[in-house]
Amino acid sequence: MHLPDILVRIIDEPSLHSKWLNTLSFMENAGAKKISACEHPEFVDIIVLKHAAEEHRHAYYLKKQISKIEGYACPTYTLVELIAPNQTRHYLNSLDIAACRYLKEVFQLTGAELKYAAYLFVTYAIEVRADVLYPIYQQALSEAQSRVTVKSIILEEEGHLEEMIAQLERFSEIWQKHADNIVYMEQKLFNEWIAGIAQEVLKD
Ligand SMILES: [Fe+2]
Ligand SMILES: [Fe+2]
Repeated sequence: MHLPDILVRIIDEPSLHSKWLNTLSFMENAGAKKISACEHPEFVDIIVLKHAAEEHRHAYYLKKQISKIEGYACPTYTLVELIAPNQTRHYLNSLDIAACRYLKEVFQLTGAELKYAAYLFVTYAIEVRADVLYPIYQQALSEAQSRVTVKSIILEEEGHLEEMIAQLERFSEIWQKHADNIVYMEQKLFNEWIAGIAQEVLKD
């Protein structure tokens, strides 16, 4: 089952749609926390602050959208309030672990420098994904004439990708080659996540 078809099914079923929004909110919140956790104790610039603030806003914004579907659904992030909770949690953790292992070896980094490199490359891969996923979701929302919209998120995610590329260029001249490898790892984990979601959607 392809992503657009999965999304049509999700949008069509209010309880699933609430959980989907909550799952995206959970991911955004995890991404925001990851950015803050990778901050250097002193060398934190305005781009990093902006990025963390906007990812936190996305988590909040998606949570708020749920009220357009079902009044008080999914108030927290417990397992029953998420779609494919295990794959959802696995996705970010595994990407982070795999990327750290890879970057440690390639760039011979440790400590705060490794954390910063992980922030750059993991966030880059996530931004590449966001720039594909949110427009597909928005198109499905528009076609279903849903009151839910993610247009404001799409705009900010496009800015994030540009900012990550600018930061990666400062980090290494050969960043693209390594970023491609991290994106490859992300693709595998994303496929597993979508498979978990498809399974739960078809079950309903
Ligand atoms: Fe985001
Ligand atoms: Fe982002």
